[in-house]
Amino acid sequence: MLFGKEAMSAAESQLNRRPRRLRSSKQMREFVAETQLRPADLILPMFVADGIDAPNPIVSMPGVVQHTLDSLVEAVREAISVGIRCVDLFGVPLDSDKDAEGSAAWDKDGILNVALRTLRREFGDEILIMADTCLDEFTDHGHCGVLSTDRFGKVIVDNDATLPLYARMAVAQAEAGAHIISPSGMMDGQVAYIRQALDQAGFSDVAIMAYSAKYASAFFGPFRDAVGSSLQGDRRAYQQDPANIRESLLEVDLDIDEGADFVMVKPAMPYLDVLREVSERSLVPVAAYQVSGEYAMLKAAAAQGWLDERQVMMESLMAIKRAGANQILTYFAVDAARVLRGEV
Ligand code: PBG
Repeated sequence: MLFGKEAMSAAESQLNRRPRRLRSSKQMREFVAETQLRPADLILPMFVADGIDAPNPIVSMPGVVQHTLDSLVEAVREAISVGIRCVDLFGVPLDSDKDAEGSAAWDKDGILNVALRTLRREFGDEILIMADTCLDEFTDHGHCGVLSTDRFGKVIVDNDATLPLYARMAVAQAEAGAHIISPSGMMDGQVAYIRQALDQAGFSDVAIMAYSAKYASAFFGPFRDAVGSSLQGDRRAYQQDPANIRESLLEVDLDIDEGADFVMVKPAMPYLDVLREVSERSLVPVAAYQVSGEYAMLKAAAAQGWLDERQVMMESLMAIKRAGANQILTYFAVDAARVLRGEV
């Protein structure tokens, strides 16, 4: 074998190894494609708001709205019609219904639980209904758990005081008809706590998609607009440091031990290395969340004419799938499914 300067040029080589042969036509490219995207891989995150009588556009997420119950039903019908198998629901309560504990989260008349019940009645098992299980939309301080003070007087998000509230929320969501519970608050032990509560309440058939490797990311910015977040400060004391990957592997192992049916990496594109490692290690399906800021970046550049929206949408989703995602949460779900079906 000859290397470097001694090596033969492609033209001189006896083998004449030419990778371009496998790129030479659309037929050949489709024939050798290693990764396939399907509408069924995509999960559509949706927002439903209390106290509005028409869908409310989210300015920093063009094309995404806060739904009324009626517009939510229609949008889920549309998602079903393009082959999507799962929607993920976030509730936006009235500011006046927020409190320190986030009690509207487990109130059966709270907006999220009403929406879950409405969708399950309307669609049964036609589509999987996933519920975001986290208190941040419901607390008046905007944190994912309840606050207390430590022995030095510092205000903290209290891990163990939050777990029973997540359990109440998850049980209320299962009662309302959620097929999948999706704890996103990054409290230690949340998956085990929720699993036990669901089982005790008779919901052993309800699955858990755990936000396992969730980073304290500025890419969540537009989401905070979408849910009218009350948060001051940040979530760095409970979400992960972008500098680290080892702890993602620990979080994933713990969540699987605790009973997670799926694990998730979030955000997606800036964390493809994490996604790859998690997908190699996980014995359960691995989801990735293309978050609000990832969506907003692509949309904003496309609106300027600086990127081709359809192509970057499909390329970004393909890259996330190639890195190891089995399911992808994306605000592009319906548009991407239409492209995959050849409708547009
Ligand atoms: C917390 C939650 C967040 C997102 C999903 N679940 C916000 C946060 O952790 O601050 C972000 C999703 C997105 O940015 O698209 N309930």
